[in-house]
Amino acid sequence: MFLALTLLLPIPVSNRKKNKRILSEKSYGKLTARERILLLLDPDSFDEYDMFVEHRCSDFGMDSNKNKYPGDSVVTGRGRINGRLAYVFSQDFTVFGGSLSGAHAQKICKVMDQAAMVGAPVIGLNDSGGARIQEGVESLAGYADIFLRNVLCSGVVPQISLIMGPCAGGAVYSPALTDFTFMVKDTSYLFITGPDVVKSVTNEDVTQEQLGGAKTHTAVSGVAHRAFENDIDALLNLREFFNYLPLSNRDPAPVCECHDPSDRLVPELDTVVPVESTKAYDMLDIIHSIADEREFFEIMPSYARNIVVGFARMNGRTVGIVGNQPKVASGCLDINSSVKGARFVRFCDAFNIPLITFVDVPGFLPGTAQEYGGIIRHGAKLLFAFAEATVPKITIITRKAYGGAYDVMSSKHLRGDANYAWPTAEVAVMGAKGAVQIIFRGKEANAEAEYVDKFANPFPAAMRGFVDDIIQPSTTRMRICHDLDVLASKTQSSPWKKHANIPL
Ligand code: COA
Repeated sequence: MFLALTLLLPIPVSNRKKNKRILSEKSYGKLTARERILLLLDPDSFDEYDMFVEHRCSDFGMDSNKNKYPGDSVVTGRGRINGRLAYVFSQDFTVFGGSLSGAHAQKICKVMDQAAMVGAPVIGLNDSGGARIQEGVESLAGYADIFLRNVLCSGVVPQISLIMGPCAGGAVYSPALTDFTFMVKDTSYLFITGPDVVKSVTNEDVTQEQLGGAKTHTAVSGVAHRAFENDIDALLNLREFFNYLPLSNRDPAPVCECHDPSDRLVPELDTVVPVESTKAYDMLDIIHSIADEREFFEIMPSYARNIVVGFARMNGRTVGIVGNQPKVASGCLDINSSVKGARFVRFCDAFNIPLITFVDVPGFLPGTAQEYGGIIRHGAKLLFAFAEATVPKITIITRKAYGGAYDVMSSKHLRGDANYAWPTAEVAVMGAKGAVQIIFRGKEANAEAEYVDKFANPFPAAMRGFVDDIIQPSTTRMRICHDLDVLASKTQSSPWKKHANIPL
């Protein structure tokens, strides 16, 4: 009866307008705010909050009924992903371009507050034209309320942003404050000011995509951590990613059922490092071969590719993996790779995720570009992050561990718990050529051979206890799994402080 009555009623003007906007969004391949939530969460698990909240603006004709939409421009609530609790908000571009009103901000703040209180991650699906222009300062206040909560939640519950449409102006700072920012290719963009403002201020001609599309932010700026093909691909990947994360900083790293034996030997690792020490190999091969079921969720795969970071599982337990990548710039550390690595290490430490570090690093990248860019303070970030981390830390030196970079890469000296070297490891101040040039000015004919003999092996480090053991590469997975079992009960503290002062 109720259904028949509603069918007879004329569709309100605001609904007709909304339907037209939904069709327009669909033409770009975008899902609606609600469809996105339903795809992200387990079936029937979504509990919506504040569905009846409306904006409170009365200027510019906004108080007319045709400008009111129940729930305003965001859908919020909580639900489950593979049975685990998550809080979500999903901005609705079909209502005032998903712009942020005071009410919209209040709805987001409510779920963020609850998430922090109960200890569950916050996932934001961003699709918004920014501050609700009609509301002026009320909207700006709303952003600040969200930013404050982003900061207060940082290190308390994981925060993830998925950019699924525009995100411009002040709106960009909420994703920037969260732990991970993912984007949808071709339909999402992030920038402080759009192409028109850029043209008028700097006279540069740039498209939206070039300025703030997924490619730009995943490969050039490092603002975004991954990009996915479309809405569906992004949401399904987000579900997979969520499984790696603890719910809060009070939770241990999640443990999944594991069918990959923890004592599995990996024979191919015995020959993965080329005999010639200048020859490249792919660190990803090593990471895949030791991880459970070869699965590795890489973070920032297209940015600063000389370092590899991401999540895997070892005997079912989530671990964060960091590895120098000899295939790119010989695995040198530079500004971008140091910052990429440092942020990842700090996330893992904040959320009790053990760190596995694979080292093959010939040092920091030399040159004026790096020095003028501040490699000293940026490199210090990675050093700082590893040093302050109190989660279980396991390090494997596969080949080069040269100079200050040896210290930085989760060395024994920075409270490494289990530090191993493969027989191919070379722990030295620098490579033989450079060293001999400096100490003998090239005058000693046999000096290079002597240097290689002395330092191009793991024994000097092992004899001093700076590596705990020299291991057969094929046993690496087994050793790591055993160590993680033992280290699961690790506790370690640092001196009391208000907070540290990481070099920014
Ligand atoms: N405040 C209020 N309404 C907004 C809005 C905002 N910030 N952004 C978009 N809208 C409304 C538009 O007025 C339009 O309403 P209508 O359908 O009733 O005409 C609707 O949302 C869709 O916007 P439209 O501009 O048609 O979509 P688009 O896909 O062509 O462009 C943007 C999207 C985001 C690029 C564009 O809307 C824009 O530049 N918005 C303003 C961005 C901004 O500067 N925000 C303030 C900075 S914090």
